Amino acid sequence: MNSIFERRRSIFPQFFTDQSVDREVIEALLSAANAAPSHRKTEPWRFRVFRGAGREELMRLMREVYNAGPSDRVWDDKLEKKFSSKVMASDTALAVFLHRDPEERVPEWEEIAAVGCAVQNLWLGLDEVNLGGYWSSPGFLCGDYGQWPGAADNERCLGIFYLGHHAAPELPRPRGPWEEKVTWVE
Ligand SMILES: Cc1cc2nc3c(=O)[nH]c(=O)nc-3n(C[C@H](O)[C@H](O)[C@H](O)COP(=O)(O)O)c2cc1C
Repeated sequence: MNSIFERRRSIFPQFFTDQSVDREVIEALLSAANAAPSHRKTEPWRFRVFRGAGREELMRLMREVYNAGPSDRVWDDKLEKKFSSKVMASDTALAVFLHRDPEERVPEWEEIAAVGCAVQNLWLGLDEVNLGGYWSSPGFLCGDYGQWPGAADNERCLGIFYLGHHAAPELPRPRGPWEEKVTWVE
């Protein structure tokens, strides 16, 4: 079986090309994300889209978040190189957020799961438009509510989804047998 689910894979920015992605394509991917399920229809996924010169702004925000952490922590050249090589190689970087239901009508895990469903929709959508991408979740970004500059107290970053056109080789994506992860009762 070669389904869209089995073709989905992580494609890292080192394989991205310079070919630009139409804004309409990004909009269609975000619309696919928005079709995700959520308990009580809280629709807790939020995205901040960084493209073009906006990618410099993402770098600035990452530095700000990092430097606002523990006082012995300072953004250095190594981190600058590591993150700029991802951000600037990407056509688009999407910062993924959990927007916690203000009334907390459902447990947090359900809303995190719903954001995961939204990201998976987007990820599967890449297949149709021949784009690649991956979900990156650096610890310093995925911390507390309100930690992201300008984020509300009920908003929490769940990572960055990098995407772009790519020239990645086919790579094996081994999985343990599904049979070992399933218990049947019948
Ligand atoms: C919630 C989530 C967070 C992830 N964070 C990272 C990450 O920080 N760094 C990374 O290299 N991959 C990350 N990944 C991607 C996984 O490494 C990748 O999905 C896994 O290796 C399987 O490869 P595949 O996506 O090609 O099937 C993340 C995936 C998920 C679902």
